[in-house]
Amino acid sequence: MSEQMTFADKKRKTVERAEFTEDGRYLRKVRSFVLRTGRLSDYQRDMMNQNWANLGLDYQATPFDFATIFGNENPVVLEIGFGMGKSLVEMAAANPNRNYLGIEVHTPGVGACIAYALEKGVTNLRVICHDATEILRDSIADHTLGGLQLYFPDPWQKAKHHKRRIVQPEFVARVLTKLAQGGFIHMATDWENYAEHMLDVLRQFPQLENQSPTNDFIPRPDFRPLTKFEERGQKLGHGVWDLYFTQKSSL
Ligand SMILES: C[S@@+](CC[C@H](N)C(=O)[O-])C[C@H]1O[C@@H](n2cnc3c(N)ncnc32)[C@H](O)[C@@H]1O
Repeated sequence: MSEQMTFADKKRKTVERAEFTEDGRYLRKVRSFVLRTGRLSDYQRDMMNQNWANLGLDYQATPFDFATIFGNENPVVLEIGFGMGKSLVEMAAANPNRNYLGIEVHTPGVGACIAYALEKGVTNLRVICHDATEILRDSIADHTLGGLQLYFPDPWQKAKHHKRRIVQPEFVARVLTKLAQGGFIHMATDWENYAEHMLDVLRQFPQLENQSPTNDFIPRPDFRPLTKFEERGQKLGHGVWDLYFTQKSSL
């Protein structure tokens, strides 16, 4: 296998690896994504291969040590599904007192994010190319995240696909175990039915406090840069719904 093939192939294999029960039956997993076939450009591939040691993190079965990884104790904000990563890099550049951890399964997006991070010179960002639900489950210690960002997750519009939406009660329950006291959950979507679903799910958790004065959505905040999918939605005439909840300090 050529050196150039190594990274993308390894990542694709990890994400696509089938899982089996103990008696050998194929275990069908409900995934929140379909791997897109977009091509990793030579430039993105080179950026990944040359900078993975500094900007990339691999899945691990034990929790990351954020203080060692980032070299400081700043709060760590996790973003799931950053797409091409432009808005994530802009947020990292705008908030040097926070560390950002981005997870994306689309390899060209990870390559693009690394290339842009280098261009902007950000050092408070690490990226992971893996299923975020597995990273949350295995690689992040409880009470260690300052916040979770989930911007324009795949809406899975048809009712029969709603089970593939990443926002489910089990997902939010897991996130809550990972948030430090006072941590935030910020979601945004351009699909009204998904926005209502997000609100329903988040409202199920008494540990969470909705920061919306109207107890539903917040106005689009200036601190969230325009994302690629948001821009696409705007062109299609879609609205935007932002949800911002914080974990109560005590019940
Ligand atoms: C609709 S796109 C939005 C991308 C970006 N946030 C934006 O607004 O432009 C959703 C992204 O989430 C990623 N994704 C979905 N489920 C994921 C998971 N379980 N782990 C990591 N990434 C995931 C997809 O690969 C896709 O790039």
